[in-house]
Parts: sequence; structure tokens; C-alpha cells
Amino acid sequence: MSRAPLYVTRPLLPPLEEFRPWLESIWQSGQVTNGGPYHDELERTLAAHLGVEHLSLFANGTLALMTALKALGLGGEVVTTPYSFVATTHALGWCGLTPVFADIDPVTLNLRPDAVEAAITPATRAILPVHVYGVPCDTAALRQIAARHRLALVYDAAHAFGVADAGGSLLRHGDLSVLSFHATKVFHTFEGGAVVCHDAAMKRELDLLKNFGFVDETTVVRTGINAKMDELRAAFGLLQLRHVDAAIEARRQIDAHYRAHLAGLSGLRCPQQPAAARSNHGYFPVFIDGGRALRDAVAAHLREHDVMARRYFHPLISDFPMYAALPSAAPARLPVARQAADSVLCLPIHPQMSADDCTRVAALLAEALGRQRRDARI
Ligand SMILES: Cc1ncc(COP(=O)(O)O)c(C=O)c1O
Repeated sequence: MSRAPLYVTRPLLPPLEEFRPWLESIWQSGQVTNGGPYHDELERTLAAHLGVEHLSLFANGTLALMTALKALGLGGEVVTTPYSFVATTHALGWCGLTPVFADIDPVTLNLRPDAVEAAITPATRAILPVHVYGVPCDTAALRQIAARHRLALVYDAAHAFGVADAGGSLLRHGDLSVLSFHATKVFHTFEGGAVVCHDAAMKRELDLLKNFGFVDETTVVRTGINAKMDELRAAFGLLQLRHVDAAIEARRQIDAHYRAHLAGLSGLRCPQQPAAARSNHGYFPVFIDGGRALRDAVAAHLREHDVMARRYFHPLISDFPMYAALPSAAPARLPVARQAADSVLCLPIHPQMSADDCTRVAALLAEALGRQRRDARI
């Protein structure tokens, strides 16, 4: 019996009927972009939902990252992680900044504060950590390092929608935090993103920059860009917000099923239970010890059975050709990141999955690992 492929994620799409009234209202008003009513409403509603004071919406997370870096007026080196989606580092390049890679922590897979500090030079201006898979960085240590060296601290929080630590929203940390609302994310607007900041002046700066630098019809005061979110996506975001808590709860149940089924499976490590006070269960990475070839063989076995697990984040960003020649990209300097990239497999996790789907994935993993062990003995 053929089954539908199980993708690593699927976009949360509420019933189309629920979206129709918003579409009708946009058609009636004729205002489809340029800071319309749904854009402003989503900014207010999201800020309240996320427990932050100021938030500026963007067309996507990459433009949000670039605009955040631009708003801080940075130039020089930025210490960042090689274990992320490539947009984290690309945003630096687009802003004329030089990435300096530092190694990660083997448990959280986020930047290791001591490695960050060792990478700082007189040219360093900022730190750009990522809350990878929504797992909180060591925010206290990073804050101290940034303060000690007078560096800006910008969090790539693309995976951290709704995540909280003991003190509240994770997005309160750093000078700025950047979210992605791409279709692969827990909360999405097809394409979209946001920058979270701490005061109205920075919010004004971000708003200026994302709209070409216009302050009124004829006055341009910044070399801005077009990074605005349009009304369709903003309206869809308002609809998504009604469903996102239920979606995160469904993800939590998938996470629990996986943990129950995979416990004790030899050769495979599940992620630690998230240390966050509130997680979003956006990803379910497992680690297959025994080298990249073994991990790739397990991934291929799943794929043969229509389970599209993904090797996020392989290759490391530091291995891409535009970064590989940087001194900080030398493999010997990033051993933990390399080990993670060689062993990780992100399993499908999304609200439409059933308990049976988890059982099927776990059975395929057991089969693949058993086969590898048998082959190794031959
Ligand atoms: C860690 C990280 N940073 C940045 C981005 C870029 O966001 P976007 O795709 O919305 O441009 C993504 C994902 O897409 C991401 O996973």
C-alpha cells in the first residue's frame, strides 16, 4: 500500500473558508501593502502574543536579519555559528560584515561562550548567535561577553517563536532578535519575519529602513530597502495566531511519541529534553553516532520508504565555498559543529502527523540501524 510521503514539516494551513473574510476585506479596501491595517494589527497582536514590547514585521527573515544589522550601523567582524541555516551568515555578507566562526556546545548545539570570547579581535563589532532548533543559547554568558567587549548582540531567533526561558520570552535577550515566518516554521506567513527590539526609537529606525528610508511622501533619510510585509501575509498571520497554540501542542505530542519509541534504540541519541520553560517543538533532531556515512545510509533508508528526514545542518555554513577560505572556517577549529553536522538527522514533525506516523519512523530507524550493525559484522 502506497503512503503519502512524510515530509520534515508541512505548513500549517487553517481551513480556507476561515481566510475568506480577510481576503474580501482586503479586496474591498484595495490596500494590499505599505503598512496597511492588517500589518499594524499583526505587529500589535504578535508583540502581545510573544510578550515583547516592540516588533517590526518584515517580508522574510533574511531581510529582517540584514535590516537588524544595518540598524545597528555595524562594520567589521561578527562572531557567529557555522551550525545554522546559511541565511545567518549570508546576512552578514550582504551588510559588508565579515563572519568569524566559533564552535558550538555539544549539548545545546549553540555558540559556546568561551569559543566566542576566543574569537574576538579588535575588529569585532557584534555577536550573532542562533537559538538552534529553538533551544535557548547561554544568554547570560553571551550578555556578559558582549558587555565586557562593548559588542552588539543580535540573536537569530528564526527557530524560537514562542519559546520562553525562566525569565520570560527568549526574544527579550540581546539588542535585537530576529524571527522567520517562513512556511517551514512553527508560525508562518508563507514568507515573513520580524525584528524584536526594546524601544520605540529602534522600532522607528527599523520601520524607516524597511520602507526605502521614507519618512514622508518626499523625504528619504536612510539608504533603506524594500522589506515590507504585505496585507495578505499579515492577514494570514492573524489567522495563524488563532491556531498556533493548538499546533504547538500537537507538536509536543509528536515529540513525546518519538521519545517513547526511540528510547533505548542503540546507536541513536534523542535530543535532551528542552531546557526552555516553554518550547515550540519546531524540530526533532536525532544524532546517529558512527560517522557521516552511517547517518547518510540511515537517511537514505528512510527516504526509500518516503520519510523525508533532513540533515539540518549539513554541510556546515563554514564549508560553503564563499566562506571556506576564512581562517575561522578551518575544520580543526570547529570540531563539535562538524561532529553535529555529520550525525544529525531531523525527523518529520508537524501538527498533521499521527502517532502511527511516529511509530513508522521509529520502526524504519530501528530497521536501518539494525541493518548497519549486521553489515558491519560481515
Ligand atoms: C536559523 C535561520 N536563520 C535565518 C533564516 C532565514 O529566514 P527566511 O527563510 O524567512 O528568510 C532561517 C530559515 O529560513 C533560519 O532557519
